[in-house]
Amino acid sequence: MNGRSDFARRLIDWHRDQGRHDLPWQRTNDPYRVWLSEIMLQQTQVDTVIPYYARFLARFPDLAALAAAPLDDVLALWSGLGYYARARNLHKAAVAVIDVHGGRFPSRAAAIAELPGIGRSTAAAIAAFSFGERAAILDGNVKRVLCRAFGVDGFPGERAVEARLWALAESLLPAADVGTYVQAQMDLGATVCTRGRPACDRCPLVDICVARREDRVDSLPAARPRKAVPQRHVRVAVIHSDGRVLLERRPPAGIWGGLLALPEIPESETVPARWVEARFGLAPRTSVALPPLNHAFTHFRLEIAAIRFEVGGGRVVADDTHRWIALADLESAGLPTPVRRILNGCVAEPG
Ligand code: ADE
Repeated sequence: MNGRSDFARRLIDWHRDQGRHDLPWQRTNDPYRVWLSEIMLQQTQVDTVIPYYARFLARFPDLAALAAAPLDDVLALWSGLGYYARARNLHKAAVAVIDVHGGRFPSRAAAIAELPGIGRSTAAAIAAFSFGERAAILDGNVKRVLCRAFGVDGFPGERAVEARLWALAESLLPAADVGTYVQAQMDLGATVCTRGRPACDRCPLVDICVARREDRVDSLPAARPRKAVPQRHVRVAVIHSDGRVLLERRPPAGIWGGLLALPEIPESETVPARWVEARFGLAPRTSVALPPLNHAFTHFRLEIAAIRFEVGGGRVVADDTHRWIALADLESAGLPTPVRRILNGCVAEPG
C-alpha cells in the first residue's frame, strides 16, 4: 500500500519538530506513572488531567502506596475527573500487581492487558512508553488517522473494520523509536488530524493521504451506520361533539400505556365512519382526513393518520376508559405529544 513504507518515519520526524515533549508523564518511563497518565487521559483532556495527575502522585507516589490505600481515598482524589470506574479499576489493578505479579508491573502488553481497566490499546501504549515494546495502539485518534491516510472505508466500530485497522497498525510499526512513534500518533490525531476542520496544511502525511487525494477528509472515518428503524402506521379517530373530543385510555402495556389518547381505528376497518358508529353509538355527520403526523420513538417511527368525525350529541358514557374533553382544556390533560399536536391542529380550525 502506498505510503506504508515511510509512514512511521514521517510521524517520528514530525514529532521531533512539532510534537508535545513537555507533558509530565513524558519525563518518565516508570510504568506506574505512565499507566496512571494513560488512564486519566481516557475521555479527558490533557489540560484537565495535569493537576489531577500531580495531586494523585503526591499522595500515591508508587504502586505499593496506591494498592495499600483505601478505595475511598483513591475516589476522593479522582473526584471531578468523572468515569469513576477508571479509579476503581486502577485500585483493583494495583492490588493485582502486588498479589499476582509480586509488585512488579508486567512489562509485556499482553500481560498488561490482563489487568482490570486496561484495554489492548492502552496496554500497548504503556508497554511502548515504559519498556519500548513494539506494540501497536489503536485508540479513536489513531483510527481516524489510519482511516484517512489509507482510505479505509466502513465504520471503525464495526468488528471487521477494526480488525483491518489493527492489522494495518501492526504493519506500520517502526523497528525502533516506538515510544516516540506512539506519542506522535496520539499528538497528530489530537492536534492536526482532528475530527472537525483538520489542519492538513500542517500534516506530515499530506502528500500520501488517500482521503486528501480523493477529497474524502470530511467523510472518513465513516460514521456509525444508522439502524433502519421500522415504520409503523396507525389510524386514529378524532371524534368531535360540541367543542369536545372523545379520548380513550390506552391499554396498560405498550406505547403510552395507561394514558388517555385518541381511539385507534383497527387496521381491518375499511369504512372508519361505520366503525365509529358501531363502536361508540355515534353517527358521524362529517368525516375528514387530517394531514398525517410523524413521530419518532426510540425503536420505530409512527405515522399517525387522524380522521376527524363530527358527531351530534356525545352519548358515550364518560367512565374510566373514555372521557370527553373540551378542546380548551387540552393543555392540562397530560396527553402524549403527538395526540396534543393533532388536537391543537383541530383547535386552530374549529368546526
Ligand atoms: N491521550 C492518551 N494518551 C495520551 C498521551 N500519552 N499523551 C497525550 N494525550 C494522550
